Amino acid sequence: MRVLIAGNWKMHGMSQALDEVRKVAAEADRVACELLLCPPATLLERAVGASAGRLAIGGQDCHWERSGAFTGDISAAMLADAGARAVILGHSERRQYHGESSAQVQAKAKAAQEAGLMTIVCVGESEAERRAGEERTVVGEQLVASLPPQSTPDNCVVAYEPVWAIGSGLTPTPAEIAAMHGFIREEVCRLLGSAARAMRILYGGSVKPANAAEILSLAEVGGALVGGASLKADEFLAIARAVRAKINLEGPIVR
Ligand code: 13P
Repeated sequence: MRVLIAGNWKMHGMSQALDEVRKVAAEADRVACELLLCPPATLLERAVGASAGRLAIGGQDCHWERSGAFTGDISAAMLADAGARAVILGHSERRQYHGESSAQVQAKAKAAQEAGLMTIVCVGESEAERRAGEERTVVGEQLVASLPPQSTPDNCVVAYEPVWAIGSGLTPTPAEIAAMHGFIREEVCRLLGSAARAMRILYGGSVKPANAAEILSLAEVGGALVGGASLKADEFLAIARAVRAKINLEGPIVR
């Protein structure tokens, strides 16, 4: 699998932001990784057009039902119909501000996979949980309860996003990231079987051009989920180019 650099625009982006999608698309052939941008739903279909098929566009959430009386929600089938190829699920902001449980995340992921979308299932501990030494327990429980059993490396990616690193400028040490990714690898293989050795595990939380090369060079880091730095094409592309640096240094990443 190729390294995946995914951008989560969260609740940012008016029509003008489509220029950033166009700029990323113009350079997409020159980076050694897969690119995905997840704009707000209002821009999704236009972003698909602006991407010109050169990078993937995804959603930030979906409902577990295909359709129904769920005011304000969007189904996985609707995302796919709008041209999305992927969807972020269980982001800590959804878990925190919308009270999403891992069981709901799993139902959403199942629906999204059935709709043909690649799911990016997010897990991560809070600052208090890490201070208490509970990060593995928390992440382990989230993985067990959030990943649908039919998840494969083709339809699912795990994103490790420690809540305290999101938007804070703080990141775990390289050793902490490598340790958690190693733990997640063991867990996905235990839950899903040995095929999950090829499942990409992204790191997310204050990834910037300045720290991307180091983070992306770590064992079991199969890409990045980028928030703030994905809003500007130049920064997002600089992170994607760090993958090229890794490949030049260490050879292609084949899992
Ligand atoms: P930042 O890159 O802004 O810290 O956000 C990370 C994130 O939440 C991506 O989903």
